[in-house]
Amino acid sequence: MKKFELGKLTLPSNIFYAPLAGCSDYPFRRMSAKYRPGLMYCEMVKMDAIVRNDSNTYHLLDYDASMHPIGGQLCGSKPEIAGQAAKIIEDLGFDVVDLNCGCPVDKVTKDGSGSGMLKNPKLIGDVIANMVAAVKIPVTVKIRAGWDDDSIIAAQITKIAEEAGAQAICIHGRTREQAYKGPANWDHIKACKEVANKIKVIGNGDVFDAEAAMRMLAYTNCDAVLVSRGTLGQPWIAEDIYALQEDQPLPERSLDHAKDELLQHFEETLRYHNERRTVIEMRRVGCWYLKKSAQTKSFRERISKAQNVQEVRELILSLEGLSGDERS
Ligand SMILES: Cc1cc2nc3c(=O)[nH]c(=O)nc-3n(C[C@H](O)[C@H](O)[C@H](O)COP(=O)(O)O)c2cc1C
Repeated sequence: MKKFELGKLTLPSNIFYAPLAGCSDYPFRRMSAKYRPGLMYCEMVKMDAIVRNDSNTYHLLDYDASMHPIGGQLCGSKPEIAGQAAKIIEDLGFDVVDLNCGCPVDKVTKDGSGSGMLKNPKLIGDVIANMVAAVKIPVTVKIRAGWDDDSIIAAQITKIAEEAGAQAICIHGRTREQAYKGPANWDHIKACKEVANKIKVIGNGDVFDAEAAMRMLAYTNCDAVLVSRGTLGQPWIAEDIYALQEDQPLPERSLDHAKDELLQHFEETLRYHNERRTVIEMRRVGCWYLKKSAQTKSFRERISKAQNVQEVRELILSLEGLSGDERS
């Protein structure tokens, strides 16, 4: 594990786990914590909602001691509330606060938030500056390469973020127009690293296994890697990357291991949510752990009919014949 300096903070490694709305929830982060990512982010919360004390929004920020170092991510475009919102994240005990400038969803971009911010780089600087002024913890920002292929502005925003006092910038190598389609272009990450002076550059996009993380680090020269969808159903991916960073062989991930992890994720979910919600959550979570497996379809069919948590538990325990190749 390679220690990572983020402002005054020393993180245990340069492999981070992404904010994933609707996915990187409390049970997911309990699972992630076992494998010691250098930093994990909560799913994004809206600045407006947090400053008006919306209880559901606070709930999304639940965490426990095992999840440190942990970052909270804010989505919003109003400099006048950005500082107050960042301070709330700090006061809740978070180690880092991030600004979301990447969310492609229409209902977020229509008020200029998320990737809508990419159309107004100066505003990004203003929002970051107010966050930096309000807190002592490091401020980071997560962007996309640009709005579309004709407006790639990641390098320009890197300079703006640096001047505004952000400690790191994460670049998702897709445009807003691409949403999640097509490959991420790592050249955009490389270009940001080339213009960065003090600010750390975090690469993001298409890291689904440990080898890809190593390729991204080598190709872009980025300082850290943010794993996103690659964490779904493989909370252990940081540990795999650490093995390669230390020239060790990849750990064996047996059927029993995947099954145990899924079962543990289920138990974590049941501890956090009620039984009905747990059954619903496990329809998605179970499929993550069975990615690329011939059993996914039948598991999905069977779990969608499960009426209670006992049935879900039995279904997980009945999984068999899942070879290493069948998982991802
Ligand atoms: C379901 C889902 C939810 C996401 N939620 C967030 C979020 O809350 N904040 C954010 O900055 N990015 C969010 N993202 C974007 C990811 O963090 C990441 O930038 C993107 O998936 C690209 O990385 P990947 O190709 O490695 O998955 C989300 C992506 C997905 C698929």
